[in-house]
Amino acid sequence: RPIEIRDPSTRPAAPPLDLTIRPRRNRKTEWARRLVRENVLTTDDLIWPMFVIDGTNQRVQVASMPGVERLSVDQIVRDAERAAKLDIPCIALFPFTEPSLRDEHGTEASNPENLVCKTVRAIKKEFPQIGVLCDVALDPYTSHGHDGLIEDGRILNDETVAVLVQQSLVQAEAGCDVIAPSDMMDGRIGAIREGLDAAGFLDVQIMAYAAKYASAFYGPFRDAIGSAKALTGDKRTYQMDPANTDEAIREVELDLAEGADMVMVKPGMPYLDIVRRVKETFGVPTFAYQVSGEYAMIAAAANNGWLDGDRAMMESLLAFKRAGANGVLTYFAPAAAEKLRQQG
Ligand code: PBG
Repeated sequence: RPIEIRDPSTRPAAPPLDLTIRPRRNRKTEWARRLVRENVLTTDDLIWPMFVIDGTNQRVQVASMPGVERLSVDQIVRDAERAAKLDIPCIALFPFTEPSLRDEHGTEASNPENLVCKTVRAIKKEFPQIGVLCDVALDPYTSHGHDGLIEDGRILNDETVAVLVQQSLVQAEAGCDVIAPSDMMDGRIGAIREGLDAAGFLDVQIMAYAAKYASAFYGPFRDAIGSAKALTGDKRTYQMDPANTDEAIREVELDLAEGADMVMVKPGMPYLDIVRRVKETFGVPTFAYQVSGEYAMIAAAANNGWLDGDRAMMESLLAFKRAGANGVLTYFAPAAAEKLRQQG
């Protein structure tokens, strides 16, 4: 029997399906979609990472991150004001260190007058109410671009931890609210907590980059802080293997036991399964870092007209909430906050 081909321009005379449950009912109107919505993104969820450079009145575009600039201290203070006005709770600072100040030991990391410390003081003087988070790791300060000290090609653990404690102390002294170790050395959270407490910084919080993977998605960040060219080899002896999940749970467990107040998973979008599992396992404040490469992908596609940039931005951020994150470090923070404000 030949198959009867229906004229596609006419509607089929299909009998109604005998369906009791039609999930589309709850999607049919805007009010109903709002009513059944399970997750929302608000400005309270945003942490805005910023890049600092020396000088005054400098705003230098980061080539691989369209829309992101390196800012001199005076300009960062202006952006901190913008963050405060947008109700963004916290900003994160990353320095571009002059190459002449970088050395094998990352000495500049523990200089109380370094760029990050100067920036923290300047922001806290003008806008004490905004949270300031500082990254702890040696890579912005080392001539080799690694997060720790090196001997015979090996990244030293315990020796590096001792330096990271010093770095944390100068940042806390400058007025930083949240110390965020991103180095992935073993035992650094405990050592930093002990160091902070001994110095009287009992209230300085620690957000541990607990599950941080050796990822290709950090490329543009390394351009931004000027460590890309310097970096010899990769970071796989300290950052995690992207193949692993159980190991992330172990890392988070250790960091919590050592005194982390909050934990982070990094990168973000390719690791939402880790965010979910960490949140479900520990039920602690859990953050995700939508890293530079993730930002660059969306920004580049949007600039080419291949994606609706605003929608992709908002969807990607909402996905972190759905996965269980309490908040997101994202270069989209100001744009997303503007958008949320418009939506009222
Ligand atoms: C430094 C650090 C990195 C990032 C945050 N802190 C880079 C790295 O580990 O090489 C990446 C952030 C981003 O890509 O946006 N340890």
